[in-house]
Amino acid sequence: MMEKNIKIAIDGHSSCGKSTLAKQLAAHYGFLFIDTGAMYRAVALYAIENGIINDDDVIDEKKLKNEMDKINISFKNSNGKNRTLLNSEDVEDKIRQIRVSSKVSKIAAMPFVREKMVSLQRKISENSSVVMDGRDIGTVVFPNAEVKFFVTASQEIRAQRRYKELLEKGEIVDLEQIKQSISQRDFLDSTREISPLKKADDAIELDNSFMTREEQFDFAVKIIDKVLQK
Ligand code: DC
Repeated sequence: MMEKNIKIAIDGHSSCGKSTLAKQLAAHYGFLFIDTGAMYRAVALYAIENGIINDDDVIDEKKLKNEMDKINISFKNSNGKNRTLLNSEDVEDKIRQIRVSSKVSKIAAMPFVREKMVSLQRKISENSSVVMDGRDIGTVVFPNAEVKFFVTASQEIRAQRRYKELLEKGEIVDLEQIKQSISQRDFLDSTREISPLKKADDAIELDNSFMTREEQFDFAVKIIDKVLQK
């Protein structure tokens, strides 16, 4: 049996199915699944609900910094589904809304926000094997992760997938708005000063534009199995 705690890092662009893959892999290997995007989304939601970021995306940095200690993020499992809690409130649905998606990149670019989230991510994974998805997992959070994937897909395909997903949840959405939001997030995530989204040198690139979920999963499992057998 495995003795070591294994870290599997899944980084990549917004809405390219990282979480789906991470969840599948975590279930397959019996590892903990950690959605780090959800953590940044929860901070963004807090900022929106407490008037810390306004409609023009201006952030009251001082207030946010002062209130970081009041922001407690945790996860729970409910009927086999991962739910994000913000100060004990289940905010899993709220953090997926477009009002949060459109502001989260700005919040995630704040150094003091990243510092707190990265330290929480390492703490949660201290004694477990984990599959963690995000933007900086292979580069910053776990630079020594046993396996690293960098997942991507074309912007058009990502927007279509996200559109379908939100429609199925009953949200009224506009495809053009989603396209814009994805393109803006790609830009902000990869050009920010601290921990920008970039492929780690030793990450395996996975472009799933023309792959099914099953094909993507099989591809990843083959690679992970090889590493685990070493
Ligand atoms: O994966 P996601 O779309 O839920 O992520 C939401 C935002 O959080 C995204 O704009 C990038 C940011 N993020 C980050 O900066 N670092 C991470 N490890 C995860 C997400």
